[in-house]
Amino acid sequence: MTNQELDRLKQDRDVAIMAHYYVDGEIQDMADYVGDSFFLAQKALEIEAQNIIMAGVSFMGESIKILNPDKTVYLPDQEADCPMAHMVTLEKIQEMREAYEDLAVVCYVNSTAEIKAHSDYCCTSANAVKVLSAIEAKNIFFIPDGNLGANISGFFPDKNIICNDGACPVHHEVTLDQVKSLRQAHPGAKVLAHPECRPEIMEFVDYKGSTSGILKAVEDLGGDEFIVLTEEGIAWKLQKTYPDKTFIFNDMVCQGMKQVKKEDILRIIEEGGPEVTLDEDLRIAARKPLERMLEVCASPQKALV
Ligand code: 13P
Ligand code: SF4
Repeated sequence: MTNQELDRLKQDRDVAIMAHYYVDGEIQDMADYVGDSFFLAQKALEIEAQNIIMAGVSFMGESIKILNPDKTVYLPDQEADCPMAHMVTLEKIQEMREAYEDLAVVCYVNSTAEIKAHSDYCCTSANAVKVLSAIEAKNIFFIPDGNLGANISGFFPDKNIICNDGACPVHHEVTLDQVKSLRQAHPGAKVLAHPECRPEIMEFVDYKGSTSGILKAVEDLGGDEFIVLTEEGIAWKLQKTYPDKTFIFNDMVCQGMKQVKKEDILRIIEEGGPEVTLDEDLRIAARKPLERMLEVCASPQKALV
């Protein structure tokens, strides 16, 4: 199918495709909107098409549905999931609420709708510093990603940030030894890391930030060679944006993102498929922390650097 045929089909069926930077390049090329988790959450509110296909993992489809209850939302593969989204329990949240009177629960967007529904604020890696800056509570329980929580805690010396014991299996795999050997093998390269990586590697990197932050950092830092410590799907956008630069990856592959297939997207456009559905009470409760994030970030945002 040519791009023109695809565009016509999307228009006929009133479909918009959103894709995360980690899905395969050919899928990013089919999409109307490609970006990081924050961009996708913001964009979801502006989409006019009645049908939205979210080329990404389950929590991304849920977030779109939470924000757009009247739209029909599809995930190309309903089993495509982010393991970290499940790495905290409601019992643990309850335990922390009982232990601290002055507590805010901040959930990273990589979390289930149920976890969001029991949180006070939501954030993404692109806006975590900004969201935490808006919180008055002294104690913050940061869930489910303990690495992201630890990586931003230096910005808040006066707060007690309690990091949940969870991590992205893809980013947590990167060790300090690996970073040191990559640096040795490529002495001129700048190192760009996603803040889901272990805190101990951060003093050996030149930039830490979200996927969109990494894309921008290439321009801001300058140079010809970059070691990129995040999922390798972003290579597609990096190479397109900076064709003359060299990007070195560390074999980081997210299984959930790779389950998203072009054939499934085409099938949904042509025939429909199972929708993302949420219990209405759950949806309303899960919307609150997402809305707070969008409100806090409505003003120009401070990057996580
Ligand atoms: P971004 O918000 O930076 O796109 O990251 C999402 C994610 O899942 C990282 O593993
Ligand atoms: Fe989840 Fe990690 Fe995959 Fe991101 S890269 S979706 S955090 S498993």
